[in-house]
Amino acid sequence: MSFPLLDEWLPANSEPERPQMILSTVSGSGIPDARTVLLTEFDSDGLYFHTDSRSRKVADIAANPAVALTFLWPGFTRQLVVQGRAEMAPAPELVAAFEARSPYLKQLAWLNSAEFAQLELDERLSQWAAFELPAEAPNTWIGFLVRPTRLTFWRSNQDAASRREEFTLVGGDWVSSYLPG
Ligand SMILES: Cc1cc2nc3c(=O)[nH]c(=O)nc-3n(C[C@H](O)[C@H](O)[C@H](O)COP(=O)(O)O)c2cc1C
Repeated sequence: MSFPLLDEWLPANSEPERPQMILSTVSGSGIPDARTVLLTEFDSDGLYFHTDSRSRKVADIAANPAVALTFLWPGFTRQLVVQGRAEMAPAPELVAAFEARSPYLKQLAWLNSAEFAQLELDERLSQWAAFELPAEAPNTWIGFLVRPTRLTFWRSNQDAASRREEFTLVGGDWVSSYLPG
């Protein structure tokens, strides 16, 4: 998979500030859900995000790997929607992704438990401050690769109608088309 527009629109993987995207999932009983996650990186296989294995999104993906990712740029300028299938990220990527996270996000991965969320603010502050961050990721750290099956690049135009450029995987080949906004 190689899309010049992806390289043009998304920041390089080396950029420390990671883009936000809405990850949409569908549960095993067909109920949709959505939340914001960070795009960790992307390559010719697809787009990667990382999360906690105990989270609802992971239960959804285990039941139904079909997901959508939505990126929005400020100021009515651009939107990118990616449909695809989520699979577990390879182990080396998982390790590298944790290493690339900021100290704050590493600690969040360690302390992001249901028990911690129940504590009063004072207790959360003191446990957070006292925590000694291990070098490695917690065993709840999990990553997913979203292999796209469709990418839709929406662009506004002040002097004309907005338009979408869409790439759909059909029988192993990418087919492109233009759609109205
Ligand atoms: C700007 C922003 C970035 C976020 N990035 C992540 C992320 O990269 N990974 C993650 O698991 N949760 C992230 N979250 C929290 C999720 O939105 C969500 O609340 C959490 O993962 C639990 O989701 P779930 O219960 O639907 O699984 C982020 C939230 C915000 C507002």
